[in-house]
Amino acid sequence: MGKTFFITTAIDYTNSAPHIGHAYEKVLADVIARYHRFKGEKVFFLTGVDQHGQKVQQSAAKEGVPPAQFVAVVTQKFIDLWKKLEVQYDGWAATIEPLHKAVVQGILQRLFDEGLIYKDKQSGYYSVRQEQFVTDKERGPDGEFGPEWGQVELREEENYYFKLSQYREWLLNYLDKRADAVVPDFRQTELRNAVQKLSGDLCISRPKSRLDWGIELPFDREYVTYVWFDALTNYISFAGYDPALSTFHSQPSTFREKWPALQIIGKDIMAPAHGIYWLIMLHAMGFDDDVMPQLLVHGWWNLGGAKMSKSAGNVVDPNVLADKYGPEALRYYLMSDMATGSDADFSEERLVTRYNSDLANSVGNLLNRALTMTHKYRDGKITRQSDQLRIGLETLQLVKIPEAVEQFRTQMNAFQPQMALLGALKLAIACNFSVEEFAPWRLAKDPKQGHFLDNVLYSLVEALRIIAILISPVLPKAAHEIFNQLNWKLDLNGKEERFRDADAKWGGLPDGHVIGKPVPVFPRIEETP
Ligand code: MSP
Repeated sequence: MGKTFFITTAIDYTNSAPHIGHAYEKVLADVIARYHRFKGEKVFFLTGVDQHGQKVQQSAAKEGVPPAQFVAVVTQKFIDLWKKLEVQYDGWAATIEPLHKAVVQGILQRLFDEGLIYKDKQSGYYSVRQEQFVTDKERGPDGEFGPEWGQVELREEENYYFKLSQYREWLLNYLDKRADAVVPDFRQTELRNAVQKLSGDLCISRPKSRLDWGIELPFDREYVTYVWFDALTNYISFAGYDPALSTFHSQPSTFREKWPALQIIGKDIMAPAHGIYWLIMLHAMGFDDDVMPQLLVHGWWNLGGAKMSKSAGNVVDPNVLADKYGPEALRYYLMSDMATGSDADFSEERLVTRYNSDLANSVGNLLNRALTMTHKYRDGKITRQSDQLRIGLETLQLVKIPEAVEQFRTQMNAFQPQMALLGALKLAIACNFSVEEFAPWRLAKDPKQGHFLDNVLYSLVEALRIIAILISPVLPKAAHEIFNQLNWKLDLNGKEERFRDADAKWGGLPDGHVIGKPVPVFPRIEETP
């Protein structure tokens, strides 16, 4: 039984439409998944939607439709966007599915039977308007609850609690033992600090009188489970987990071959949700330390240095950008203008500038020149020279290509597509530079330089084949287009297997190969945003 590279993303709330942050996370996961597939690994990429909860219930009520109908509409928007952005997932986690519900209830029942879930009374201030308990943290500088909370009254409510705090020491220990539990490492430090402050248990229920759009507690039908045991469980319920089996090792092999996952999440949901609640839930469910998921925590896209939010009206719609500039221009921007882990400022001008300078001017221009010259001087046929005749091109062939491929691999393994893309880009820039330096148009005038001209043309075309492979996880359509024009592996056109990591080495194109005609793959974007 072979191991599967299992990658998940946060599931997106269906209380509103997809925005640029959602798109970034999905594309990042897709790029990492494609990279692992093209290394020849088995991959299972799971993503989905978070469909239950108070906000959905409220939004549906506002529109006067049943919650199920409301989430069906929003869910479709996410599905359509992932299709448009070429996000190729293997599993779809939609939390209203009966299978998910059964797993959630199975887990809750088991933990309840084991005494890890108990009922308790909570009394405190309750905001009628926001339908939640408020604490002193929510008080303004004047000591009062702000107007957003509406009427605030003292209330008493019984709920179910999960014994979270008893696992605090275990979690600290686990984090100390495993240096890459969270990537990047400054987030692991942040998480550790949060765990140190952990006190109290986790409320996991809401009385149905307050919230009924959720999964019922199997041991008390008057309650639904609130957020955590529902949403977080998606990562195992849609991967074949059986809640009746109490240890990881007794799980079905279909589950074990996938798990543990690389889990991609934004910085806002690391602590406490994924870094504390989820890891502790898994531990309590019988997952050993060596099968804890790894958390890859990315930063946020801001706008003008400020947080994007619906209420501020500054949310960037990925659909609009994909329609205006093309899905791959958007994928390229999202991957090339943010270092994984850090925040970035969204800018449509940057999207256009990066596309024009990196893709149109560097890669596109190289493709056009190399193909045009090969047709002009050699009727489209490339000739592979013997080693002695490689004079002057050593730098390009023997240094630049392995260097580019090495940079690409190292950075992709470190989940940094931005730096990986730079490897491919530097190669394109070096090739364009060598065109200027070797001036094939001059070589073509001197019959004594024939071998040298052949060598230059072969190098450029061969470098393009490798560039196409390296950009393929981020720009699959463009990579296919380049291969088509190189007249290469046409039988695999449109298929992911066309690009393989193992092929990213010098000398793949055979002597005498005839290339196709150039057609612009990255036409310049002329419009200004
Ligand atoms: N439904 C929860 C997650 C449950 S996971 C079991 C949720 N949903 S969300 O729709 O608010 O966010 C989904 C993902 O999008 C999160 O990882 C979040 O960090 C990410 N982003 C939301 N806004 C973002 C930006 N502005 N920039 C980058 N990512 C952002 O949280």
